[in-house]
Amino acid sequence: MNKIIVESPGRINLIGEHVDYNGGSVLPAAIDKKIIIEFNSIEGNECSIESVTVGKSFKLNLEKISKSTIQWENYIIGVLHNLIVLKKRKIGAFNCKITSNLPIGAGISSSSSLICGLISGLNYLNNLKLGSDEIVDMVSSVEHNFIGLMGGIMDQFTIVNGKKNNLILLDCQNRKFEYISSNFNPYKIILINTNVEHNLADSSYNQRVKECEEALGIINKNENNYKYLVDVELNILNKFKDSMNSRVYNRAKFVIEENKRTHDSSVEISKSNINEFGKLMYQSHKGLRKLYEVSCEELDFLVDFSKSKKEVIGSRMMGGGFGGCTINLIRDDYVDDFISSVSKAYLKKFNIEPSPLFVNIGDGVTIKTT
Ligand code: GLA
Repeated sequence: MNKIIVESPGRINLIGEHVDYNGGSVLPAAIDKKIIIEFNSIEGNECSIESVTVGKSFKLNLEKISKSTIQWENYIIGVLHNLIVLKKRKIGAFNCKITSNLPIGAGISSSSSLICGLISGLNYLNNLKLGSDEIVDMVSSVEHNFIGLMGGIMDQFTIVNGKKNNLILLDCQNRKFEYISSNFNPYKIILINTNVEHNLADSSYNQRVKECEEALGIINKNENNYKYLVDVELNILNKFKDSMNSRVYNRAKFVIEENKRTHDSSVEISKSNINEFGKLMYQSHKGLRKLYEVSCEELDFLVDFSKSKKEVIGSRMMGGGFGGCTINLIRDDYVDDFISSVSKAYLKKFNIEPSPLFVNIGDGVTIKTT
């Protein structure tokens, strides 16, 4: 019997939100909060899957792969469907146990982390020889076709390629990337979880993807032939302002501006201009709130609260939005005070305790053999 332990991290994103599926650049990193999957290969066709995280388990037969009505089961079934039915790969039976210290629905990519971990583990156990790019593509395919979330590649790319103490400056158009030191001394990266997860998040996310496609379609209708929205200059977009409704125009404007902010941020960070980078984080939040409309009252409250504290150099909502976390750069001698004051104010306003999340920047997926 073969036993392996896969550790699959979550991810943060410093800047470059909702640009990955528009061919833009992002600045994410893998974190030391993870999903841990213990695999045991066994004889036969019948697999047992247990998730300690959701407190449920189920059995499945490798010769009868079909979609479940229970969404969390579809993460596992989707991976097997992709490998066995679509890719015609031979997968041996296994038992697996999933545990996690990665909060679900917090915008730190617990779902991509789970799918990445499952594929990486099965890749190892079955000697499939899948490379990182293939794993990234497979995660996307499971998310798009099985889970129904039309996300970009930021999460899976980061989870596979993360490197301790480094951010990844990734161009999602061509997957060119470079590692950038994540040292923001004397500022620390702290996440604050709103502990709210708004309904409709998935469908609203997919709606944003469609709105961006609509904008690009209108721009390309006549003489233009842009492949990605981020390649459109703002002055070109403005020529089409009257041909699209204001909502679609705002989405496109945000995407073009946010992509520029990622590039500006990498320059500022490389010159250790944390102050300037912090301003870009606040601008990013403003765009996500007003133009892209993926924020919510709770996230806005946390960011506005941070703005009044000079020790918080930057703050914004992170990930898909509609709830989840803010990412903050806080001077290290002020972290405790900040957490205590923001928690009190948030509790008073919403009657919900927010949760601070202390994250270190870690490696991508790792596999341990025992
Ligand atoms: C989710 C998606 C990513 C990305 C972010 C927003 O995490 O999975 O692909 O679009 O939202 O930046």
